[in-house]
Amino acid sequence: MTLPLDVILRNATVIDGTGAAPIQADLAIAGDRIHAVGSLGRAGAEAEIDCRGLVVAPGFIDVHTHDDTALMIRPEMTAKLSQGITTVVAGNCGISGAPYDRPGDPPDLLRLIFKSAECVAPSFEAIATRVERARPAVNAAFLTGHTTLRMQVMGSDLARTATSAEVAAMRGLLAECLEQGSIGLSSGLFYPPARAASADEVIGVGAPLAGCHGLYTCHIRDEADGVVESLEEALRIGRETGARTIVSHHKCMGERNFGRSVETLALLERARQRQPVAWDVYPYTAASTVLNEELVAKASRTLVTWCDPEPRFCGRDLAEIARELGCSPLEAIPRLRPAGAVYFLMDEADVTRILGSSAAMVGSDGLPEDQHPHPRLWGTFPRVLGHYVRERGVLRLEDAVHRMTGLSARSFGLRDRGVLRAGNRADLCVFDPATVRDTATYEAPAQPASGIRHVFVNGVAAWRDGAATGERAGKVLRRQDATEFLAAEHAN
Ligand code: ZN
Ligand code: CU
Repeated sequence: MTLPLDVILRNATVIDGTGAAPIQADLAIAGDRIHAVGSLGRAGAEAEIDCRGLVVAPGFIDVHTHDDTALMIRPEMTAKLSQGITTVVAGNCGISGAPYDRPGDPPDLLRLIFKSAECVAPSFEAIATRVERARPAVNAAFLTGHTTLRMQVMGSDLARTATSAEVAAMRGLLAECLEQGSIGLSSGLFYPPARAASADEVIGVGAPLAGCHGLYTCHIRDEADGVVESLEEALRIGRETGARTIVSHHKCMGERNFGRSVETLALLERARQRQPVAWDVYPYTAASTVLNEELVAKASRTLVTWCDPEPRFCGRDLAEIARELGCSPLEAIPRLRPAGAVYFLMDEADVTRILGSSAAMVGSDGLPEDQHPHPRLWGTFPRVLGHYVRERGVLRLEDAVHRMTGLSARSFGLRDRGVLRAGNRADLCVFDPATVRDTATYEAPAQPASGIRHVFVNGVAAWRDGAATGERAGKVLRRQDATEFLAAEHAN
């Protein structure tokens, strides 16, 4: 007896996510799994989709997101589905929704992601349950944030290294989160609430990672003049905790550091010889985070993305706002906070070089709670395929897809995903390689990409003919479901 097939994608250009060259083939879906990839001849199915001229690839994995809140309150996840993304990793840069249960509104940095107290919870399980109840359209895996752990354990007394008792308390909370399904620890040593933490503090907190193949992802202490020293610190934390290290949104900031990716990538390549390390990158020369003096000073231009006291300034140039307020841009900052911004402070040659480097994955770092977000939120993946692959030819299509799928699933321990192979989950993105492109800009950032034709999540069509179907079949991906896979991956 043969399984009833639900969908056959016919005559497609199949790019399997491993980096292998495209092949012409059909792909069949049965339930939530890929049933077969190959020439399916006259096999029949409930639905057949002609994919002549289209690429069928694994659904994209956005390894660097701040979608924690969006997954609960806007579960349609249109910014992601419209790019062909089927899985997001949340809890990055040291900021996660759990474990946190102090009374009152979440502190300032948490507000970047969590606008209200409902989106934080005392345990990983509570967050996972809320996300499952919301039934998001994409799958989600979650990291546990070092900054959140600090806020939970140390309250507002954060301008110092944690005591050994506090480190032990954070370690205990991390161990609990890992047990409940967190895939690892994220840190954001750049940000003031974590900046006072020493590397030894993070190593102490991260002790439970090695035993369960947890990851260590980091927004490093300094991505500008101190980028090399900060990478060395991150690598040391990875070595001493025994965790696979992921350098988040790798970049070299500020004009005097333009070109230094030659040096940083050489350092990372050497490190790969002795420890597991990978990195992610977004395809833009502007960064985005909270409004911060240091970054304003390094940027050639700053755009305000959200501004609680003066929402009318969203989307506008800081220099122009300062003129209007009759002060300097640096003087304007305290009057605008809490606020966020986009900063133009990278070199295109560095972005291109990092994107093509050996262990680079694509991650958007999109900020879905911003009123006037950086265009990376809606544009990252199609921009790589359209601008970097088709227009500039700096990556081969199958290589770009690998950095969005197979490499990402391996590095993050996401079992049964990221590669088109019979038996894997049917997370798929069907796109037109001749037209796929981002349309989101700094001026008009909330624009769906074009050329993404169909998206399947766990075998369910969430996006058909360029529009959402309303089906939401995403799952929470828990670490313990991937234990054997992780053990095997970490062994090589
Ligand atoms: Zn970050
Ligand atoms: Cu981030």
